[in-house]
Amino acid sequence: MDRAASLKCKIGPSILNADLSQLYAESQRLLDSGADYLHLDVMDGSFVPNLTFGHPVVKCLRKRIPHAFFETHMMVQDPEQWIEPMADAGVSQYTFHIEPVLKNVMPICRKIREAGMKVGLALKPATGIDAVRQFIDHADMILIMTVEPGFGGQKFMTDMMPKVQWLRHNYPLLDIEVDGGVGLNTINACAEAGANMIVSGTAIINACDQRSVIASLRETVESSIHKCNV
Ligand code: DX5
Ligand code: ZN
Repeated sequence: MDRAASLKCKIGPSILNADLSQLYAESQRLLDSGADYLHLDVMDGSFVPNLTFGHPVVKCLRKRIPHAFFETHMMVQDPEQWIEPMADAGVSQYTFHIEPVLKNVMPICRKIREAGMKVGLALKPATGIDAVRQFIDHADMILIMTVEPGFGGQKFMTDMMPKVQWLRHNYPLLDIEVDGGVGLNTINACAEAGANMIVSGTAIINACDQRSVIASLRETVESSIHKCNV
Protein backbone atom coordinates (compact mmCIF):
# COMPACT_ATOMS: atom_id res chain seq x y z
CA MET A 1 0.00 0.00 0.00
CA ASP A 2 1.22 3.52 -0.73
CA ARG A 3 1.88 4.70 2.78
CA ALA A 4 2.58 8.32 1.90
CA ALA A 5 -0.77 8.50 0.15
CA SER A 6 -2.71 8.34 3.40
CA LEU A 7 -0.29 8.90 6.26
CA LYS A 8 -0.14 12.63 6.92
CA CYS A 9 2.11 14.65 9.16
CA LYS A 10 0.12 16.84 11.53
CA ILE A 11 1.53 19.32 14.01
CA GLY A 12 -0.61 19.97 17.09
CA PRO A 13 0.75 22.56 19.49
CA SER A 14 -0.11 22.17 23.17
CA ILE A 15 -1.29 25.45 24.66
CA LEU A 16 -0.57 24.28 28.23
CA ASN A 17 2.34 26.65 28.72
CA ALA A 18 0.87 29.52 26.73
CA ASP A 19 -0.56 32.65 28.37
CA LEU A 20 -3.92 31.11 29.23
CA SER A 21 -5.42 34.52 29.97
CA GLN A 22 -5.13 34.98 26.19
CA LEU A 23 -6.28 31.51 25.24
CA TYR A 24 -8.13 32.52 22.09
CA ALA A 25 -5.40 34.83 20.78
CA GLU A 26 -2.66 32.27 21.52
CA SER A 27 -4.64 29.48 19.84
CA GLN A 28 -5.46 31.54 16.78
CA ARG A 29 -1.84 32.61 16.44
CA LEU A 30 -0.74 28.95 16.42
CA LEU A 31 -3.28 28.09 13.74
CA ASP A 32 -2.24 31.12 11.70
CA SER A 33 1.37 29.92 12.03
CA GLY A 34 0.62 26.59 10.38
CA ALA A 35 -0.65 24.32 13.18
CA ASP A 36 -2.88 21.51 11.89
CA TYR A 37 -4.77 21.08 15.14
CA LEU A 38 -4.81 22.17 18.77
CA HIS A 39 -3.86 19.75 21.55
CA LEU A 40 -5.80 20.75 24.67
CA ASP A 41 -4.48 19.26 27.92
CA VAL A 42 -7.22 18.50 30.41
CA MET A 43 -6.09 17.49 33.91
CA ASP A 44 -8.19 16.52 36.91
CA GLY A 45 -5.72 16.80 39.80
CA SER A 46 -6.16 13.08 40.44
CA PHE A 47 -4.81 11.10 37.49
CA VAL A 48 -2.05 13.70 37.38
CA PRO A 49 -0.97 16.08 40.16
CA ASN A 50 -2.13 19.18 38.34
CA LEU A 51 -5.22 21.05 37.15
CA THR A 52 -5.84 22.90 33.92
CA PHE A 53 -9.26 23.57 32.41
CA GLY A 54 -12.38 21.68 31.45
CA HIS A 55 -15.23 21.64 28.98
CA PRO A 56 -16.60 25.16 29.74
CA VAL A 57 -13.31 26.67 28.61
CA VAL A 58 -13.11 24.39 25.56
CA LYS A 59 -16.67 25.38 24.63
CA CYS A 60 -15.82 29.08 24.78
CA LEU A 61 -12.73 28.51 22.66
CA ARG A 62 -14.79 26.57 20.11
CA LYS A 63 -17.18 29.53 19.77
CA ARG A 64 -14.27 31.76 18.79
CA ILE A 65 -12.59 29.10 16.60
CA PRO A 66 -15.39 27.26 14.80
CA HIS A 67 -13.44 25.11 12.35
CA ALA A 68 -10.10 23.89 13.72
CA PHE A 69 -9.55 20.29 14.83
CA PHE A 70 -9.56 20.16 18.65
CA GLU A 71 -7.98 17.19 20.40
CA THR A 72 -8.51 17.00 24.15
CA HIS A 73 -5.83 15.00 25.94
CA MET A 74 -7.81 13.72 28.91
CA MET A 75 -5.42 13.17 31.80
CA VAL A 76 -8.28 12.15 34.07
CA GLN A 77 -9.17 9.26 36.35
CA ASP A 78 -12.67 8.82 34.92
CA PRO A 79 -12.64 9.54 31.16
CA GLU A 80 -16.21 8.32 30.73
CA GLN A 81 -17.51 11.22 32.82
CA TRP A 82 -16.47 13.90 30.35
CA ILE A 83 -17.46 12.37 27.01
CA GLU A 84 -20.81 14.11 26.64
CA PRO A 85 -19.71 17.52 27.93
CA MET A 86 -16.65 17.50 25.67
CA ALA A 87 -18.71 16.45 22.64
CA ASP A 88 -21.12 19.26 23.44
CA ALA A 89 -18.16 21.65 23.70
CA GLY A 90 -17.22 20.83 20.11
CA VAL A 91 -14.24 18.53 20.61
CA SER A 92 -13.09 16.67 17.47
CA GLN A 93 -11.01 13.94 19.10
CA TYR A 94 -11.18 12.62 22.64
CA THR A 95 -7.87 11.09 23.68
CA PHE A 96 -7.91 9.32 27.04
CA HIS A 97 -5.45 7.34 29.13
CA ILE A 98 -6.24 3.66 29.28
CA GLU A 99 -4.45 3.06 32.61
CA PRO A 100 -7.32 3.85 35.02
CA VAL A 101 -9.96 2.10 32.88
CA LEU A 102 -8.26 -1.02 31.50
CA LYS A 103 -11.35 -3.18 31.93
CA ASN A 104 -13.62 -0.65 30.28
CA VAL A 105 -11.69 0.64 27.26
CA MET A 106 -13.99 -0.75 24.55
CA PRO A 107 -17.27 0.67 25.89
CA ILE A 108 -15.60 4.03 26.38
CA CYS A 109 -14.34 3.98 22.77
CA ARG A 110 -17.88 3.19 21.63
CA LYS A 111 -19.40 6.03 23.65
CA ILE A 112 -16.87 8.51 22.27
CA ARG A 113 -17.77 7.49 18.73
CA GLU A 114 -21.48 7.63 19.45
CA ALA A 115 -20.94 11.15 20.74
CA GLY A 116 -19.45 12.04 17.35
CA MET A 117 -15.77 12.31 18.24
CA LYS A 118 -12.67 10.45 17.10
CA VAL A 119 -10.97 8.15 19.59
CA GLY A 120 -7.40 8.48 20.85
CA LEU A 121 -5.79 6.06 23.32
CA ALA A 122 -2.92 7.38 25.45
CA LEU A 123 -0.14 5.46 27.21
CA LYS A 124 1.96 6.71 30.11
CA PRO A 125 5.69 5.99 29.88
CA ALA A 126 5.47 2.95 32.18
CA THR A 127 2.63 1.37 30.18
CA GLY A 128 3.79 -1.19 27.64
CA ILE A 129 2.36 -1.72 24.20
CA ASP A 130 0.80 -5.01 25.28
CA ALA A 131 -1.77 -3.08 27.29
CA VAL A 132 -3.15 -1.37 24.18
CA ARG A 133 -2.71 -4.00 21.44
CA GLN A 134 -6.20 -5.43 21.65
CA PHE A 135 -7.76 -1.96 21.35
CA ILE A 136 -5.80 -0.53 18.43
CA ASP A 137 -8.38 -1.52 15.82
CA HIS A 138 -11.01 0.43 17.77
CA ALA A 139 -9.01 3.66 17.92
CA ASP A 140 -8.18 6.42 15.44
CA MET A 141 -4.89 7.25 17.09
CA ILE A 142 -2.44 6.02 19.71
CA LEU A 143 -0.59 8.57 21.85
CA ILE A 144 2.79 7.51 23.19
CA MET A 145 3.69 9.87 26.03
CA THR A 146 7.34 10.88 25.98
CA VAL A 147 7.21 12.44 29.47
CA GLU A 148 5.20 11.69 32.61
CA PRO A 149 1.88 13.43 32.01
CA GLY A 150 1.09 16.45 34.18
CA PHE A 151 3.49 19.24 33.26
CA GLY A 152 4.90 20.97 30.22
CA GLY A 153 8.59 21.61 29.69
CA GLN A 154 9.94 18.21 30.76
CA LYS A 155 12.79 16.22 29.22
CA PHE A 156 11.96 13.98 26.26
CA MET A 157 12.26 10.24 26.99
CA THR A 158 14.07 8.68 24.02
CA ASP A 159 13.45 5.22 25.45
CA MET A 160 9.79 5.51 24.45
CA MET A 161 10.76 5.29 20.76
CA PRO A 162 10.66 1.46 20.58
CA LYS A 163 6.91 1.68 21.33
CA VAL A 164 6.46 4.05 18.39
CA GLN A 165 8.60 1.81 16.17
CA TRP A 166 6.59 -1.27 17.08
CA LEU A 167 3.32 0.49 16.29
CA ARG A 168 4.58 1.86 12.97
CA HIS A 169 6.00 -1.50 11.95
CA ASN A 170 2.75 -3.30 12.66
CA TYR A 171 0.32 -0.54 11.67
CA PRO A 172 1.79 1.31 8.68
CA LEU A 173 -1.18 3.67 8.35
CA LEU A 174 -2.05 4.26 11.99
CA ASP A 175 -1.99 7.80 13.35
CA ILE A 176 0.72 7.74 16.04
CA GLU A 177 1.16 10.79 18.25
CA VAL A 178 4.04 11.73 20.53
CA ASP A 179 3.68 14.24 23.36
CA GLY A 180 6.19 15.62 25.83
CA GLY A 181 9.54 17.32 25.33
CA VAL A 182 9.16 17.31 21.55
CA GLY A 183 10.98 20.13 19.78
CA LEU A 184 13.68 20.79 17.22
CA ASN A 185 16.25 18.70 19.17
CA THR A 186 14.06 15.63 19.56
CA ILE A 187 11.87 15.59 16.45
CA ASN A 188 14.37 13.46 14.53
CA ALA A 189 13.99 10.54 16.91
CA CYS A 190 10.19 10.81 16.73
CA ALA A 191 10.15 11.02 12.95
CA GLU A 192 12.55 8.13 12.46
CA ALA A 193 10.56 5.95 14.84
CA GLY A 194 7.45 6.63 12.76
CA ALA A 195 5.36 9.21 14.63
CA ASN A 196 3.19 11.34 12.34
CA MET A 197 1.18 13.44 14.82
CA ILE A 198 3.42 15.75 16.74
CA VAL A 199 2.45 17.56 19.93
CA SER A 200 4.84 20.26 20.94
CA GLY A 201 4.30 22.69 23.79
CA THR A 202 7.07 24.89 25.10
CA ALA A 203 9.28 24.42 22.01
CA ILE A 204 6.62 26.19 19.91
CA ILE A 205 5.07 28.49 22.51
CA ASN A 206 8.41 29.97 23.60
CA ALA A 207 9.75 30.39 20.06
CA CYS A 208 10.12 33.91 18.64
CA ASP A 209 9.09 32.53 15.28
CA GLN A 210 6.38 29.91 15.80
CA ARG A 211 5.82 29.53 12.08
CA SER A 212 9.40 28.48 11.42
CA VAL A 213 9.44 25.94 14.29
CA ILE A 214 6.19 24.38 13.07
CA ALA A 215 7.59 24.26 9.53
CA SER A 216 10.84 22.59 10.67
CA LEU A 217 8.99 19.97 12.71
CA ARG A 218 6.82 19.25 9.68
CA GLU A 219 9.76 19.05 7.30
CA THR A 220 11.54 16.46 9.48
CA VAL A 221 8.46 14.27 9.83
CA GLU A 222 7.51 14.54 6.17
CA SER A 223 10.97 13.53 5.04
CA SER A 224 10.79 10.39 7.23
CA ILE A 225 7.34 9.49 5.91
CA HIS A 226 8.71 9.93 2.42
CA LYS A 227 11.89 7.89 3.08
CA CYS A 228 9.87 4.98 4.43
CA ASN A 229 7.88 4.98 1.26
CA VAL A 230 10.71 4.78 -1.28
C1 DX5 B 1 2.07 16.97 29.50
C2 DX5 B 1 1.14 17.37 28.40
C3 DX5 B 1 1.84 17.83 27.17
C4 DX5 B 1 2.70 19.02 27.39
C5 DX5 B 1 3.65 19.20 26.25
O1 DX5 B 1 1.33 16.39 30.51
O2 DX5 B 1 0.34 16.27 28.03
O3 DX5 B 1 0.92 18.04 26.13
O4 DX5 B 1 1.97 20.19 27.54
O5 DX5 B 1 4.49 20.26 26.54
P1 DX5 B 1 6.05 20.19 26.22
O6 DX5 B 1 6.18 20.05 24.73
O7 DX5 B 1 6.56 21.44 26.76
O8 DX5 B 1 6.60 18.96 26.93
ZN1 ZN C 1 -0.77 16.46 26.16
